[in-house]
Amino acid sequence: MPCILDCPIVMRQEVAPGHVRLALKAPEIARTAQPGQFAMIQVAEGIYPFLRRPMSFERILSDSVVFLFKVEGEGTRLLERHAVGQRLSLHGPLGKGFPLDDGFSRHIIVAGGIGVAPFPALAEGLIRKCGKAPEVIIGARTRDLVLCEDDFRQMGCLTHLATDDGSIGHKGFAHEVLERLSPAPGACIYACGPMPMMKAVSRLAMSLGVDCRVSLEAQMACGDGACLGCVIESVREKEGEKMMRVCADGPVFDATLVDWDAHNLAYDL
Ligand SMILES: Cc1cc2nc3c(=O)[nH]c(=O)nc-3n(C[C@H](O)[C@H](O)[C@H](O)COP(=O)(O)OP(=O)(O)OC[C@H]3O[C@@H](n4cnc5c(N)ncnc54)[C@H](O)[C@@H]3O)c2cc1C
Ligand code: FES
Repeated sequence: MPCILDCPIVMRQEVAPGHVRLALKAPEIARTAQPGQFAMIQVAEGIYPFLRRPMSFERILSDSVVFLFKVEGEGTRLLERHAVGQRLSLHGPLGKGFPLDDGFSRHIIVAGGIGVAPFPALAEGLIRKCGKAPEVIIGARTRDLVLCEDDFRQMGCLTHLATDDGSIGHKGFAHEVLERLSPAPGACIYACGPMPMMKAVSRLAMSLGVDCRVSLEAQMACGDGACLGCVIESVREKEGEKMMRVCADGPVFDATLVDWDAHNLAYDL
């Protein structure tokens, strides 16, 4: 059950330019949180900014949860100013996370930029459930923006890198590395990152007949399904609507359910 709690910050790290990791002591949330779920964080005391900001769990520990975020705008600028010992209000765990299914022959994570955030928790969950570390592809603009590489390697994940400028790893996009890994039916791909990347990964997975789960983003107000502010188009009709709420029906979706050609998702690489 989601709850709203004031939680102390127990760790703060600058992990890359404009990217911060915060751990908060939150045993009640950590106990039920699943990889791929998120919390709505109140980024400052008082009523400004009015809306909480959604953040995925980067790690779920026994009595704490860890967030990794990119400073984007006013909300994340306020969030990054917090120090160890200060408290933040968390609402969570929210949404539907990644199913941990040990029936697959191969698990491949594809992360683009800050889209890597939910994947350390997923990799730990898959190792616990399946006894085998997933393969990981991390895409970033440049070498200094590659996030979590050491964490995945320490977990035993075979890790591949792709950068836009070729400063490390493959010069180009993460989905091009995925294509080279030639996943076959029976594998499962997990993707999170910029929409064009997720669309390219989903198309590739569908063309190869491989299962694919994507963690989508949308601007959110309530975070728990009430306001309909976060809907995206689906290819499947449910209760007369072809809409899905990212916060409550996702943020993790089977890629075949998403209407990638709908106007607000229509990006191409
Ligand atoms: C389920 C979910 C999990 C997320 N997990 C993480 C995470 O682990 N780490 C992380 O860094 N970010 C994550 N995000 C995105 C994060 O919530 C936004 O970056 C954040 O809300 C921006 O707030 P802001 O006040 O700093 O920026 P704003 O001033 O609100 O916006 C700055 C810019 O970011 C864009 N933006 C705002 N919100 C979003 C959004 N939700 N998705 C895409 N673009 C947005 C705006 O259009 C604008 O261009 C997640 C989003 C969702 C929906
Ligand atoms: S944010 Fe309110 S329904 Fe999703």
